[in-house]
Amino acid sequence: MTKNYDIKDSNLAEQGRKRIDWAENEMPVLRLIRERFERERPLKGLRVSACLHVTSETANLARTLAAGGADVVLCASNPLSTQDDVAAALVAYEEMPVYAIKGEDNATYYNHIKAALDHNPHITMDDGADLVSAVLKQRTDLIPDLVGSTEETTTGVIRLKAMAADGVLKFPVIAVNDSDTKHLFDNRYGTGQSTIDGIIRATNVLLAGKTFVIGGYGWCARGIADRARGHGAIVVVTEIDPIKALEAAMDGFRVMPMIEAARQADFICTATGDIKVIDGEDFAVMKDGAIVANSGHFNVEIDIPALEALSVEKRQPRPFIDQYILKDGRRINLLAEGRLINLASAEGHPSAVMDMSFANQALAAEFLLRNQGKLSAGVHALPKDVDREIASLKLKAMGIAIDTCHRGRKAPRPERVMG
Ligand SMILES: NC(=O)c1ccc[n+]([C@@H]2O[C@H](COP(=O)([O-])OP(=O)(O)OC[C@H]3O[C@@H](n4cnc5c(N)ncnc54)[C@H](O)[C@@H]3O)[C@@H](O)[C@H]2O)c1
Repeated sequence: MTKNYDIKDSNLAEQGRKRIDWAENEMPVLRLIRERFERERPLKGLRVSACLHVTSETANLARTLAAGGADVVLCASNPLSTQDDVAAALVAYEEMPVYAIKGEDNATYYNHIKAALDHNPHITMDDGADLVSAVLKQRTDLIPDLVGSTEETTTGVIRLKAMAADGVLKFPVIAVNDSDTKHLFDNRYGTGQSTIDGIIRATNVLLAGKTFVIGGYGWCARGIADRARGHGAIVVVTEIDPIKALEAAMDGFRVMPMIEAARQADFICTATGDIKVIDGEDFAVMKDGAIVANSGHFNVEIDIPALEALSVEKRQPRPFIDQYILKDGRRINLLAEGRLINLASAEGHPSAVMDMSFANQALAAEFLLRNQGKLSAGVHALPKDVDREIASLKLKAMGIAIDTCHRGRKAPRPERVMG
């Protein structure tokens, strides 16, 4: 790569700019942070390498960091999630180096990560811990200048906590996913809406009256379950955790092992962070025409090699659908190669939830810098008052006022009216 970016097509820039501006309308908290950053320039001189889904919302985060004085480079955190017009707009109008092309192969994906690290970052931002892994495996020379990292998603936080437990994580990482204003909203309402959106855009199949199986009942999966129910589907949940399974049952969903659920499913979607949630035994009992998708971070939740081994032919009836023909003639429709369906065939989370996730990211960068040298190597949460501040700003932007606690105030005791 000779130029300092690698994108699909510069001619898409104008369309990308409109899309970024449209998203910004729904991101009032991030806008307030950007306005403060413009005044205070708290990130002046900071080099940030971000490996995030390159979407219109991420573009608004990148603009916010740049407004704070940071020098930002962006690469994709998934080969299928890039919005090519957004990447073009960032290069053309923000003069930001972007390395991301929708549909890039694995070699290009890792070359882009390498290019983002060649920027010699003070802070890395990850969605899945790929930059941190690359720093620890290939670019340990960057560690002395690293102030720290931030991590967006559940799977990334799990990977980082494992690295910390093994004693290999050499710098502080802020687990943005652990903020309440992140996972309670982004994972639940964002993944819920956009996963259903992705499945519908890919298939245009009616959900009402169909059996919709969801692997997991964590924050993402419960959002998907609620939205599938809202579409009139009969929703079945599979879990490995008895407490989550009990919650799903008492929330009114049918709960059963995957091998039973797979027999009944018209749709199956995983969102667990685990591997082989759907495996060869499950494919062996699925109905003809079953639609299979994943919304968990990695494309390992569905055992695609097992599906390939059971198949005699693969067709592509529509974009984002690989139809596998099994030896007995049954057809299994795999969406988006098992990658995050909400980002592959739809547009990812709506901007209004990314507003809070990326407010956390922007404030995490500022927090890392303010606390440089004070945080131990390992995984940290953002302080609770940052979380509460983001929630308060969001409520204000939504025109919602709330009460304050009466405890400690001198208020007259209410009259006893009963008993
Ligand atoms: N699609 C997106 O845009 C998006 C957004 C946020 C998070 N994610 C990813 O989605 C995944 C789930 O995130 P989360 O925040 O819901 O996590 P979570 O920890 O809240 O929930 C995961 C759930 O899956 C269950 N589980 C694990 N293995 C299972 C198995 N084999 N079968 C059934 N259930 C199983 C766990 O018991 C848990 O309840 C992660 O990979 C995360 O990174 C995706």
